[in-house]
Amino acid sequence: MANSLKHLFSPIRVKKMEIPNRIVMPPMGTNLGNPDGTVSEANLAYMKRRARGGAGLIITEISAIHPSGMAIPSELGSYDDRFIPGLKMLADVIHSHGSKAVLQLHHTGRESLFMLKAGKAIAPSPIRSLVFGMTPREMTREEIQELIAAFGAAAFRGKQAGFDAVEVHGAHGYLLTQFLSALSNQRTDEYGGDLSNRSRFIREVLQAVRRRVGEDFPVSLRLSAEEFIKGGYTVEDLKPLLPEWVKAGADIIHASLGTHGSPGGITSAPIEYPPGFNVGRAKRIKEIVNVPVIGVGRFTDLPLADEVIGRGDADLVAFGRQFLADPDFILKSREGRFEDVRKCIACNQGCIERLILGEGNIRCAINPETGQETLYPQGPAAVRRRVWVIGGGPAGLTAAWEAARLGHRVDLFEKEKEWGGQLRYAGKPPFKGIYQEWGAWLGAQARKMGVNLHPGVEATEKMIQEGNPEAVILAAGGEKIIPDIPGIDLPHVTDAWQILSGEVAPKKQVLVIGGGLIGMETADFLGQKGTQVTLVEVLKRSPVLKITSHGYMLHTRLREAGCKLLFDTAVKRIETSSVTILSQGAEEVLSPIEQVVIAVGLKPTENLKKFLESKGIRHFVVGDAVLPRRIIEATEEGAKAAWSL
Ligand SMILES: Cc1cc2nc3c(=O)[nH]c(=O)nc-3n(C[C@H](O)[C@H](O)[C@H](O)COP(=O)(O)OP(=O)(O)OC[C@H]3O[C@@H](n4cnc5c(N)ncnc54)[C@H](O)[C@@H]3O)c2cc1C
Ligand SMILES: Cc1cc2nc3c(=O)[nH]c(=O)nc-3n(C[C@H](O)[C@H](O)[C@H](O)COP(=O)(O)O)c2cc1C
Repeated sequence: MANSLKHLFSPIRVKKMEIPNRIVMPPMGTNLGNPDGTVSEANLAYMKRRARGGAGLIITEISAIHPSGMAIPSELGSYDDRFIPGLKMLADVIHSHGSKAVLQLHHTGRESLFMLKAGKAIAPSPIRSLVFGMTPREMTREEIQELIAAFGAAAFRGKQAGFDAVEVHGAHGYLLTQFLSALSNQRTDEYGGDLSNRSRFIREVLQAVRRRVGEDFPVSLRLSAEEFIKGGYTVEDLKPLLPEWVKAGADIIHASLGTHGSPGGITSAPIEYPPGFNVGRAKRIKEIVNVPVIGVGRFTDLPLADEVIGRGDADLVAFGRQFLADPDFILKSREGRFEDVRKCIACNQGCIERLILGEGNIRCAINPETGQETLYPQGPAAVRRRVWVIGGGPAGLTAAWEAARLGHRVDLFEKEKEWGGQLRYAGKPPFKGIYQEWGAWLGAQARKMGVNLHPGVEATEKMIQEGNPEAVILAAGGEKIIPDIPGIDLPHVTDAWQILSGEVAPKKQVLVIGGGLIGMETADFLGQKGTQVTLVEVLKRSPVLKITSHGYMLHTRLREAGCKLLFDTAVKRIETSSVTILSQGAEEVLSPIEQVVIAVGLKPTENLKKFLESKGIRHFVVGDAVLPRRIIEATEEGAKAAWSL
């Protein structure tokens, strides 16, 4: 083990729980549970894969302490004894590689779409959900008492199921935060009013949990150290409350951040926030109370976490999405194989946003195994095939790596000299360099896995015919769309790819055609360089949703850079120094425009598809070559093609 990791790999004791190292896997909802809230095979397989990683402490995803508090209908339950056998299996799986197991106890309050729709959501006050925009019913005092007792009972079930500790979820805008925050609690009884009254619910929940689990059993309190919302509480507001919560039963403070209603998805922070950005709040909490504090927020590598522990800024460090991107990152780092760690790119596509947008169960855009552990073939394949992969973007590189892992003999052809396909451009806009790094990483990993790489070689019909592979995975991506607009051939008209690659230098007054991700990011790239950008999009609204964390940050930066976004607007004509647009039936001439940048997107590359079909060659078309979309579809389709060879 590298010396620099000695802080991280030192044990820490909390009551009778001896945690073997300072690495925490924080709670992450998976949506993998059975429909009745019991633990499923998929839950166990997902957790088993992560437990192998060697974290000191693993905290389960949310479990509902009461039927009124479920965020989704299939949320794991801890509100009834019938859940204990499944929870016991989960605790056993976590223990199987030496981690300590913590059950997270949760009540969602107003933040549940299906409860709101059914008119059943409850909260301290009837104030609209920030996430779903609907209003819950105010809780009665009897209901408050019932839920306090339910937290205690659920904690006791956790103990019965063999967990080493429980964590009370007091963060992220769920019921406990709703009581704490003046923005969601306008009660006039002893549970509302000043900060002390608003913190009473958390205090009484902790007391109830303590009563039920006994003095020796560790209890963690997860808090949003700061609400991160206009008018919300800050870490300084917690100063008088933290000692009371510790007295009431909290043995660990888990210092998370924000609510799901905070702008920009700060709870699972986007790429704009650097690794470890939130640890200052953990440090502040450590100055206030003398219990172990867990720091969390965009950690992806062990050396940084080791420094944090060494400096005493936190006692433990949680790696959330990094456990989704690469459950082996601890093992690889301990072996000194830092370059093999698949680093989370904080895109949130497969994880938190997929769950919040109701798109299905957990995935990871850069790790196709995540959430699909029960399907993931371990290999080797029964028949080793000779496979050609065409295209070295995320789809092709993932397909090639997976196929080689399963024992197939793989040749990968990429017509460019560099790996990554569109990632070579996706990595250029502000903060997105990690996309390009990931592309290069995929290339290096494919080589290590034994793929025969052919950079700078365009696969042709003739080559395929002569090479006669048993199967072809066509991951050739898309081609630029050039819109049919008068003036499109003028010399000052260029495209997003030429601008992003630096092939064409940006001018001062630029009009971007296309308000999808590529157009918006090109505008961002230009805006940060001081260019005056006007962006024109025919759709009524940007397909880049502000409710996604990246979308929010992107829209904010464009606004701050003074970029003019014209939706529901079409470009009619391009002239040497002006552009005529059509907006709501009226034409308008924009001038001066020194440069026009086309960013209307891509269409699938048709090259080779017909040939493969007509020759009856076994083949799979994957990623943008099917339809230009996102990296998550590219990696998933690439992997699935390899699995079905
Ligand atoms: C500026 C920009 C920003 C983006 N940002 C994001 C983002 O934030 N999130 C997201 O999810 N997606 C983003 N995307 C889209 C994402 O990059 C693509 O969806 C993804 O790269 C598609 O992967 P792919 O492997 O299917 O295709 P590609 O990445 O296009 O790779 C295809 C590869 O095949 C090669 N090729 C084609 N024909 C042949 C041949 N005959 N022989 C050999 N090689 C061939 C090409 O050279 C290319 O390298 C962005 C795209 C751009 C341009
Ligand atoms: C898919 C997903 C699900 C999450 N579910 C929970 C949860 O059940 N309980 C919780 O307290 N936090 C949850 N979180 C927040 C994480 O525990 C963590 O605080 C957050 O992702 C920031 O850490 P990271 O930057 O290391 O990912 C979730 C995050 C993700 C990505």
